[in-house]
Amino acid sequence: MSVDRTIGMWLYRNSGGKKIGKKIIKKLRDRDIETIDNIRLHNCIAKNGHILHHDLKVDKLDLFFSYNASEQTQYQMYLYQALNRVIPMINSYESFALTEDKFHTSFVLRHEGIQTADYKLCHRDNGHELKKIIKQWDKMVYKPTDGWGGVGLTKIESEASLDMLMPFLNQMDLRYFYVEKFINYDNTDFRVDIVDGEFVGCYGRKASGNDWRTNVTSGGSVFMREPDDEVIEVATKAALACGVDIAGVDIIYDLEKEEYIVLEVNGIPAFATPEQEKLGLDFNDKKIDLIVDLIDRKTSK
Ligand SMILES: Nc1ncnc2c1ncn2[C@@H]1O[C@H](COP(=O)(O)OP(=O)(O)O)[C@@H](O)[C@H]1O
Ligand SMILES: [Mg+2]
Repeated sequence: MSVDRTIGMWLYRNSGGKKIGKKIIKKLRDRDIETIDNIRLHNCIAKNGHILHHDLKVDKLDLFFSYNASEQTQYQMYLYQALNRVIPMINSYESFALTEDKFHTSFVLRHEGIQTADYKLCHRDNGHELKKIIKQWDKMVYKPTDGWGGVGLTKIESEASLDMLMPFLNQMDLRYFYVEKFINYDNTDFRVDIVDGEFVGCYGRKASGNDWRTNVTSGGSVFMREPDDEVIEVATKAALACGVDIAGVDIIYDLEKEEYIVLEVNGIPAFATPEQEKLGLDFNDKKIDLIVDLIDRKTSK
Protein backbone atom coordinates (compact mmCIF):
# COMPACT_ATOMS: atom_id res chain seq x y z
CA MET A 1 0.00 0.00 0.00
CA SER A 2 1.06 3.55 -0.61
CA VAL A 3 1.92 5.65 2.41
CA ASP A 4 1.54 9.19 3.65
CA ARG A 5 -1.04 10.52 1.33
CA THR A 6 -2.46 13.95 2.10
CA ILE A 7 -4.91 15.89 0.03
CA GLY A 8 -6.30 19.39 0.26
CA MET A 9 -9.99 20.15 0.01
CA TRP A 10 -12.19 23.17 -0.53
CA LEU A 11 -15.84 22.18 -0.48
CA TYR A 12 -18.87 24.40 -0.08
CA ARG A 13 -20.30 24.31 3.44
CA ASN A 14 -23.84 25.60 2.94
CA SER A 15 -26.82 23.46 1.83
CA GLY A 16 -25.54 20.32 3.52
CA GLY A 17 -21.98 20.63 2.18
CA LYS A 18 -20.44 20.55 5.63
CA LYS A 19 -21.85 17.10 6.35
CA ILE A 20 -20.79 15.83 2.92
CA GLY A 21 -17.25 17.08 3.58
CA LYS A 22 -17.09 15.21 6.88
CA LYS A 23 -18.19 11.97 5.23
CA ILE A 24 -15.58 12.29 2.51
CA ILE A 25 -12.83 12.98 5.04
CA LYS A 26 -13.83 9.95 7.10
CA LYS A 27 -13.96 7.64 4.11
CA LEU A 28 -10.56 8.86 2.94
CA ARG A 29 -9.10 8.32 6.40
CA ASP A 30 -10.31 4.72 6.28
CA ARG A 31 -7.98 4.40 3.31
CA ASP A 32 -5.09 6.15 5.07
CA ILE A 33 -5.55 9.36 3.17
CA GLU A 34 -5.45 12.51 5.29
CA THR A 35 -7.42 15.58 4.30
CA ILE A 36 -6.55 19.17 5.05
CA ASP A 37 -9.91 20.83 4.84
CA ASN A 38 -11.04 24.30 3.92
CA ILE A 39 -8.02 25.47 1.98
CA ARG A 40 -9.16 28.62 0.25
CA LEU A 41 -6.81 29.40 -2.57
CA HIS A 42 -8.16 32.92 -2.38
CA ASN A 43 -6.25 33.35 0.89
CA CYS A 44 -3.08 31.66 -0.30
CA ILE A 45 0.12 33.40 -1.22
CA ALA A 46 2.39 32.23 -4.00
CA LYS A 47 6.04 32.64 -3.22
CA ASN A 48 8.81 31.37 -5.44
CA GLY A 49 8.04 27.71 -6.19
CA HIS A 50 5.29 27.40 -3.61
CA ILE A 51 1.67 28.18 -2.93
CA LEU A 52 1.30 28.82 0.77
CA HIS A 53 -1.76 28.46 2.96
CA HIS A 54 -0.38 29.80 6.24
CA ASP A 55 2.60 27.46 6.72
CA LEU A 56 1.30 24.72 4.48
CA LYS A 57 2.86 24.25 1.07
CA VAL A 58 -0.25 23.43 -0.95
CA ASP A 59 1.93 22.39 -3.90
CA LYS A 60 3.33 19.52 -1.78
CA LEU A 61 -0.07 17.87 -1.36
CA ASP A 62 -0.83 14.73 -3.32
CA LEU A 63 -4.03 16.17 -4.76
CA PHE A 64 -6.40 19.09 -4.36
CA PHE A 65 -10.17 18.64 -4.43
CA SER A 66 -11.83 21.94 -5.33
CA TYR A 67 -15.61 22.01 -4.95
CA ASN A 68 -17.04 25.37 -4.10
CA ALA A 69 -18.98 27.20 -6.78
CA SER A 70 -20.35 30.16 -4.89
CA GLU A 71 -17.13 31.47 -3.36
CA GLN A 72 -14.94 31.42 -6.46
CA THR A 73 -12.83 34.47 -7.19
CA GLN A 74 -10.59 35.45 -10.09
CA TYR A 75 -7.55 35.16 -7.86
CA GLN A 76 -8.60 31.71 -6.66
CA MET A 77 -9.01 30.59 -10.30
CA TYR A 78 -5.60 32.00 -11.13
CA LEU A 79 -3.98 29.95 -8.37
CA TYR A 80 -6.12 26.92 -9.33
CA GLN A 81 -4.49 27.10 -12.76
CA ALA A 82 -0.98 27.47 -11.34
CA LEU A 83 -1.43 24.71 -8.75
CA ASN A 84 -2.71 22.26 -11.34
CA ARG A 85 0.55 22.67 -13.25
CA VAL A 86 2.29 20.84 -10.40
CA ILE A 87 -0.25 18.58 -8.64
CA PRO A 88 -3.39 16.69 -9.71
CA MET A 89 -6.67 18.42 -9.08
CA ILE A 90 -10.30 17.37 -9.20
CA ASN A 91 -11.62 18.66 -11.50
CA SER A 92 -8.53 19.44 -13.52
CA TYR A 93 -8.17 23.16 -14.11
CA GLU A 94 -8.30 22.68 -17.84
CA SER A 95 -11.56 20.76 -17.85
CA PHE A 96 -13.13 22.97 -15.20
CA ALA A 97 -12.26 26.15 -17.09
CA LEU A 98 -13.77 24.60 -20.19
CA THR A 99 -17.08 23.95 -18.46
CA GLU A 100 -17.11 27.50 -17.11
CA ASP A 101 -17.45 28.78 -20.67
CA LYS A 102 -20.61 28.02 -22.61
CA PHE A 103 -19.16 28.62 -26.05
CA HIS A 104 -16.05 26.52 -25.43
CA THR A 105 -18.24 23.74 -24.02
CA SER A 106 -20.65 23.72 -26.97
CA PHE A 107 -17.73 23.91 -29.37
CA VAL A 108 -16.03 20.86 -27.86
CA LEU A 109 -19.27 18.90 -27.50
CA ARG A 110 -20.28 19.49 -31.11
CA HIS A 111 -16.78 18.65 -32.26
CA GLU A 112 -17.19 15.32 -30.46
CA GLY A 113 -20.54 14.70 -32.13
CA ILE A 114 -22.67 15.41 -29.05
CA GLN A 115 -25.86 17.36 -29.71
CA THR A 116 -26.16 20.89 -28.32
CA ALA A 117 -28.39 23.79 -29.31
CA ASP A 118 -27.17 25.26 -32.60
CA TYR A 119 -25.13 28.33 -31.75
CA LYS A 120 -23.23 31.14 -33.32
CA LEU A 121 -20.38 33.24 -31.98
CA CYS A 122 -19.14 36.40 -33.63
CA HIS A 123 -16.99 39.40 -32.81
CA ARG A 124 -18.93 42.45 -31.70
CA ASP A 125 -17.91 44.15 -34.98
CA ASN A 126 -19.91 41.50 -36.82
CA GLY A 127 -23.25 42.14 -35.11
CA HIS A 128 -24.90 41.99 -38.52
CA GLU A 129 -24.38 38.19 -38.33
CA LEU A 130 -27.11 38.13 -35.69
CA LYS A 131 -29.54 39.67 -38.19
CA LYS A 132 -28.85 36.87 -40.62
CA ILE A 133 -29.27 34.21 -38.01
CA ILE A 134 -32.57 35.42 -36.55
CA LYS A 135 -34.04 35.17 -40.06
CA GLN A 136 -33.02 31.51 -40.14
CA TRP A 137 -33.82 30.56 -36.59
CA ASP A 138 -36.98 32.50 -35.84
CA LYS A 139 -36.19 32.56 -32.12
CA MET A 140 -32.86 32.67 -30.34
CA VAL A 141 -31.30 33.11 -26.92
CA TYR A 142 -28.55 35.59 -26.18
CA LYS A 143 -26.25 34.18 -23.46
CA PRO A 144 -23.30 35.53 -21.55
CA THR A 145 -20.68 32.78 -22.05
CA ASP A 146 -19.70 32.79 -18.37
CA GLY A 147 -23.10 33.15 -16.71
CA TRP A 148 -24.99 30.94 -14.28
CA GLY A 149 -28.47 30.58 -12.80
CA GLY A 150 -30.19 31.76 -15.95
CA VAL A 151 -28.95 35.32 -15.29
CA GLY A 152 -28.53 37.54 -18.35
CA LEU A 153 -30.19 35.10 -20.76
CA THR A 154 -32.37 36.98 -23.20
CA LYS A 155 -34.87 35.40 -25.54
CA ILE A 156 -35.02 37.17 -28.88
CA GLU A 157 -38.28 36.37 -30.66
CA SER A 158 -38.19 38.51 -33.79
CA GLU A 159 -36.00 40.75 -35.91
CA ALA A 160 -37.71 43.72 -34.30
CA SER A 161 -36.73 42.61 -30.78
CA LEU A 162 -33.16 42.07 -31.96
CA ASP A 163 -33.13 45.63 -33.30
CA MET A 164 -34.29 46.82 -29.90
CA LEU A 165 -31.66 44.81 -28.06
CA MET A 166 -28.62 45.64 -30.23
CA PRO A 167 -28.05 49.19 -28.90
CA PHE A 168 -27.99 47.78 -25.35
CA LEU A 169 -25.57 45.03 -26.27
CA ASN A 170 -23.37 47.52 -28.10
CA GLN A 171 -23.28 49.74 -25.05
CA MET A 172 -22.14 46.88 -22.85
CA ASP A 173 -18.70 46.80 -24.43
CA LEU A 174 -18.79 43.03 -24.97
CA ARG A 175 -16.00 41.39 -26.90
CA TYR A 176 -18.30 39.05 -28.77
CA PHE A 177 -21.86 37.83 -29.11
CA TYR A 178 -22.93 34.28 -28.37
CA VAL A 179 -26.42 33.19 -29.38
CA GLU A 180 -28.20 29.85 -29.45
CA LYS A 181 -31.18 28.67 -31.40
CA PHE A 182 -34.18 28.65 -29.09
CA ILE A 183 -35.10 25.03 -28.51
CA ASN A 184 -38.75 24.09 -28.44
CA TYR A 185 -38.98 21.95 -25.32
CA ASP A 186 -41.41 21.23 -22.49
CA ASN A 187 -39.76 23.63 -20.00
CA THR A 188 -38.28 20.77 -18.01
CA ASP A 189 -34.71 19.53 -17.96
CA PHE A 190 -32.60 16.65 -16.73
CA ARG A 191 -29.64 17.15 -14.42
CA VAL A 192 -27.52 14.02 -14.70
CA ASP A 193 -24.61 13.59 -12.30
CA ILE A 194 -21.58 11.70 -13.52
CA VAL A 195 -18.44 10.86 -11.52
CA ASP A 196 -15.45 9.18 -13.11
CA GLY A 197 -17.51 8.18 -16.15
CA GLU A 198 -20.20 6.51 -14.02
CA PHE A 199 -23.83 7.48 -13.69
CA VAL A 200 -24.56 8.77 -10.18
CA GLY A 201 -28.07 10.17 -10.19
CA CYS A 202 -30.64 12.21 -12.01
CA TYR A 203 -33.31 14.74 -11.21
CA GLY A 204 -35.41 17.16 -13.18
CA ARG A 205 -36.20 20.84 -12.96
CA LYS A 206 -39.32 22.55 -14.19
CA ALA A 207 -39.56 26.22 -15.09
CA SER A 208 -42.13 28.18 -13.14
CA GLY A 209 -45.18 29.75 -14.73
CA ASN A 210 -44.38 31.31 -18.07
CA ASP A 211 -40.62 31.32 -17.58
CA TRP A 212 -38.68 29.25 -20.11
CA ARG A 213 -35.64 28.85 -17.86
CA THR A 214 -35.50 25.86 -15.55
CA ASN A 215 -32.93 27.30 -13.13
CA VAL A 216 -33.96 27.16 -9.49
CA THR A 217 -32.60 30.72 -9.18
CA SER A 218 -35.10 31.70 -11.89
CA GLY A 219 -37.98 30.13 -9.96
CA GLY A 220 -37.67 26.57 -11.29
CA SER A 221 -38.46 23.61 -9.06
CA VAL A 222 -36.72 20.28 -8.62
CA PHE A 223 -38.57 17.01 -9.14
CA MET A 224 -37.74 13.32 -9.13
CA ARG A 225 -37.04 12.05 -12.60
CA GLU A 226 -36.08 8.61 -13.89
CA PRO A 227 -33.51 8.84 -16.67
CA ASP A 228 -33.66 6.52 -19.67
CA ASP A 229 -30.53 4.86 -21.06
CA GLU A 230 -30.21 7.43 -23.81
CA VAL A 231 -30.11 10.45 -21.51
CA ILE A 232 -27.50 8.70 -19.34
CA GLU A 233 -25.42 7.93 -22.41
CA VAL A 234 -25.55 11.53 -23.62
CA ALA A 235 -24.50 12.78 -20.18
CA THR A 236 -21.65 10.29 -19.88
CA LYS A 237 -20.32 11.22 -23.31
CA ALA A 238 -20.54 14.93 -22.52
CA ALA A 239 -18.59 14.53 -19.26
CA LEU A 240 -15.95 12.51 -21.07
CA ALA A 241 -15.69 15.02 -23.92
CA CYS A 242 -15.11 17.84 -21.44
CA GLY A 243 -12.62 15.79 -19.44
CA VAL A 244 -14.29 16.51 -16.11
CA ASP A 245 -14.05 13.81 -13.43
CA ILE A 246 -17.16 15.20 -11.77
CA ALA A 247 -19.96 16.59 -13.88
CA GLY A 248 -23.58 17.65 -13.67
CA VAL A 249 -24.87 17.58 -17.22
CA ASP A 250 -27.96 19.64 -18.07
CA ILE A 251 -30.02 18.14 -20.83
CA ILE A 252 -33.32 19.03 -22.49
CA TYR A 253 -35.42 17.17 -25.05
CA ASP A 254 -35.77 18.99 -28.36
CA LEU A 255 -39.40 18.43 -29.41
CA GLU A 256 -38.72 19.31 -33.05
CA LYS A 257 -35.62 17.24 -33.63
CA GLU A 258 -36.87 14.60 -31.18
CA GLU A 259 -33.52 14.16 -29.51
CA TYR A 260 -31.72 15.05 -26.30
CA ILE A 261 -29.43 18.02 -26.39
CA VAL A 262 -26.82 19.09 -23.86
CA LEU A 263 -27.31 22.63 -22.56
CA GLU A 264 -24.31 22.80 -20.30
CA VAL A 265 -21.86 20.81 -18.22
CA ASN A 266 -21.45 21.92 -14.65
CA GLY A 267 -18.08 21.20 -13.04
CA ILE A 268 -19.29 21.68 -9.46
CA PRO A 269 -22.77 20.13 -9.39
CA ALA A 270 -24.27 20.39 -5.93
CA PHE A 271 -24.93 17.31 -3.85
CA ALA A 272 -28.59 16.78 -3.03
CA THR A 273 -29.56 19.24 -0.31
CA PRO A 274 -31.18 17.96 2.90
CA GLU A 275 -34.57 19.13 1.52
CA GLN A 276 -33.98 17.34 -1.79
CA GLU A 277 -32.98 14.20 0.10
CA LYS A 278 -36.39 14.34 1.77
CA LEU A 279 -37.94 14.50 -1.71
CA GLY A 280 -36.23 11.18 -2.37
CA LEU A 281 -32.99 12.20 -4.11
CA ASP A 282 -30.67 9.62 -2.67
CA PHE A 283 -27.53 9.74 -4.80
CA ASN A 284 -25.21 11.47 -2.31
CA ASP A 285 -23.65 8.32 -0.85
CA LYS A 286 -22.94 6.87 -4.27
CA LYS A 287 -21.39 10.14 -5.34
CA ILE A 288 -19.23 10.30 -2.22
CA ASP A 289 -18.02 6.73 -2.77
CA LEU A 290 -17.11 7.39 -6.39
CA ILE A 291 -15.24 10.57 -5.45
CA VAL A 292 -13.33 8.74 -2.70
CA ASP A 293 -12.41 5.95 -5.15
CA LEU A 294 -11.25 8.54 -7.64
CA ILE A 295 -9.09 10.39 -5.11
CA ASP A 296 -7.62 7.09 -3.95
CA ARG A 297 -6.74 6.09 -7.49
CA LYS A 298 -5.31 9.47 -8.48
CA THR A 299 -3.05 9.59 -5.42
CA SER A 300 -1.79 6.01 -5.43
CA LYS A 301 1.92 6.10 -6.08
N1 LIG B 1 -31.12 27.33 -26.45
C1 LIG B 1 -32.08 27.28 -25.52
N2 LIG B 1 -33.38 27.06 -25.86
C2 LIG B 1 -34.34 27.03 -24.92
N3 LIG B 1 -34.12 27.17 -23.60
C3 LIG B 1 -32.86 27.38 -23.19
C4 LIG B 1 -31.77 27.43 -24.12
N4 LIG B 1 -30.64 27.64 -23.43
C5 LIG B 1 -30.98 27.70 -22.15
N5 LIG B 1 -32.32 27.54 -21.97
C6 LIG B 1 -33.04 27.56 -20.68
O1 LIG B 1 -32.36 28.48 -19.86
C7 LIG B 1 -31.80 27.84 -18.71
C8 LIG B 1 -30.43 28.41 -18.39
O2 LIG B 1 -29.53 28.20 -19.48
P1 LIG B 1 -28.06 27.69 -19.29
O3 LIG B 1 -27.41 27.67 -20.62
O4 LIG B 1 -28.06 26.43 -18.52
O5 LIG B 1 -27.38 28.86 -18.45
P2 LIG B 1 -27.09 29.01 -16.87
O6 LIG B 1 -25.64 28.75 -16.73
O7 LIG B 1 -27.46 30.41 -16.57
O8 LIG B 1 -27.90 27.98 -16.15
C9 LIG B 1 -31.75 26.38 -19.07
O9 LIG B 1 -31.83 25.59 -17.90
C10 LIG B 1 -32.96 26.22 -19.97
O10 LIG B 1 -34.12 26.05 -19.19
MG1 LIG C 1 -27.82 25.91 -16.47
